[in-house]
Amino acid sequence: MQIVILKDSASVAEYGANIFIKQLQKKADSVLGLATGSTPVSLYQGLIAANKAKQISFAGVKTFNLDEYLGLEGTHPQSYRYFMNEQLFDHIDIDKSRTFVPPGDAENPIEACQGYEEQIKAAGGIDIQLLGIGRNGHIGFNEPSSGLMSRTRVKTLTKATIDDNARFFKVGEYQPHLSITMGIGTILDAKKVVLLATGENKADAIKATVEGALTAACPASALQLHQDAVLVIDEAAASKLTDCDFYKHIEAENQKLLAKLGL
Ligand code: F6R
Repeated sequence: MQIVILKDSASVAEYGANIFIKQLQKKADSVLGLATGSTPVSLYQGLIAANKAKQISFAGVKTFNLDEYLGLEGTHPQSYRYFMNEQLFDHIDIDKSRTFVPPGDAENPIEACQGYEEQIKAAGGIDIQLLGIGRNGHIGFNEPSSGLMSRTRVKTLTKATIDDNARFFKVGEYQPHLSITMGIGTILDAKKVVLLATGENKADAIKATVEGALTAACPASALQLHQDAVLVIDEAAASKLTDCDFYKHIEAENQKLLAKLGL
């Protein structure tokens, strides 16, 4: 795992956006794995700005989102499809028929999960997957106890996740307790994984991800198995890491090497 510790959330978003910009400049028909939640919003703003400045184009891109609430149609303001349209797709030169979000309104969700896996495969697999992390270490909606080799499936949300996400729903509004999510195995199949985390409330989850055991109790710890996983975190999210200075030292050495190689 590459661990990049930056001073604040704005720097995390900028660093994360640059990874995606470079990816699109290198491979214009990239398959992107995308996430929702608060964390990636500023990164998406960076991608929108780069698209408007003609530094990158999404015309040849396909996207696959991590997850969706089961029981919400894409027109529902709390659905992840709606979120993606609002936060990214409506502002870039992407053809929406090339953007995929698990179908929360599927009549047969079990078949829909299998279908989602097949769509990812047919697209050639995900080149780069963006992730946030839950306070409980979840990635996508893979809650603690999720199988480390799991594939896209229906998952029940924990009370902690329902409580965390209640802020997006109006008082009295129906909030789903089920989701369709890519599995941890699906995420690990992406060629590159970029996880962003900001704020002190993510510090325990980051500690468990980086310095804890590989365990279903912290789904993000599965990234320890990935060959090209980058964690971009701010000082607050890094605040419980024991070896913080060592990770900063490694990153400084990495940057020196890349500069020497002109990369
Ligand atoms: C979103 C997702 C979740 C979030 C996580 C963090 O598609 O899969 O795993 O990334 O819950 O959410 P925020 O960024 O709102 O703290």
